[in-house]
Amino acid sequence: MGETLLKTRRLSKTYVADGVQTHVLGSVDLELYRGDFTVIMGPSGSGKSTLLYCLSGMDKPTAGSVIFEGEDIAQASEDELAKLRAQRFGFVFQAANLVSNLTLLENVAVPGYLKCGRTAKQTKAEAERLIARMGLEEVAAHLPSQASGGQKQRCAVARAVVNEPAIIFADEPTGALNRSNSLEVLDLLSGMNAEGISVLMVTHDVRSAIRGNRVLYFEDGAVRGELELPVWDAAEATDEIYVREREAIANAWLSSLSW
Ligand SMILES: Nc1ncnc2c1ncn2[C@@H]1O[C@H](COP(=O)(O)OP(=O)(O)OP(=O)(O)O)[C@@H](O)[C@H]1O
Ligand SMILES: [Mg+2]
Repeated sequence: MGETLLKTRRLSKTYVADGVQTHVLGSVDLELYRGDFTVIMGPSGSGKSTLLYCLSGMDKPTAGSVIFEGEDIAQASEDELAKLRAQRFGFVFQAANLVSNLTLLENVAVPGYLKCGRTAKQTKAEAERLIARMGLEEVAAHLPSQASGGQKQRCAVARAVVNEPAIIFADEPTGALNRSNSLEVLDLLSGMNAEGISVLMVTHDVRSAIRGNRVLYFEDGAVRGELELPVWDAAEATDEIYVREREAIANAWLSSLSW
């Protein structure tokens, strides 16, 4: 178990809409460790996305604390949060959400200019390196409308890491992709994790979940179960047996939780 990266204390979230209260997160005590690839699974509506939003400063918890690198981000100002999201966190969602009038290269580079201590030239070079790393050189000058779904999602991964974040938050990043594009995006996330970036990924899919070395089962606004797996080994994973064994372990664990 590594150093703590992020932890919550009695985190709760209640939405109020039209006078109706929905208690989504009960009193969550959770600890994430630096370098981990943590996965969250659980039924639809159980609060996984809400948890991810509260952990990443995209939404304010109703009560409780979210400590990231020693600072309570639940108490942070909007300016501090914006800085944190831009400089320390990376985000990947089900849809790539690229800026439609910027090229793929520009979509990666633009958030990069928010990082301190780097010249514009260095940022551009970093964006170009990532575009190449994601296999997007040939479409770097295309607009999102001229790229495929898989290419756009790979671009979203590049954009998420251009500022060398401490952690990538990914909410069903392969939810809208076919199998081969999903595997490419998962390989990129595993690769980023192998390079030292922590990952927190929400998924419904066992094939995706087995990328994690720690899988949490979330139900009714609380963590109900936890599975530890060896760190994903990209070289071993070229052998289908390695993948099937991990899937079998995860499936047995999920059945025990009545998934
Ligand atoms: N802005 C909001 N206002 C009111 N209720 C909300 C809001 N956002 C989410 N909810 C409710 O909170 C609960 C949890 O939603 P959340 O999106 O976190 O679930 P989830 O586990 O991510 O589900 P899924 O697997 O379908 O994505 C749901 O009952 C949802 O209707
Ligand atoms: Mg969700």
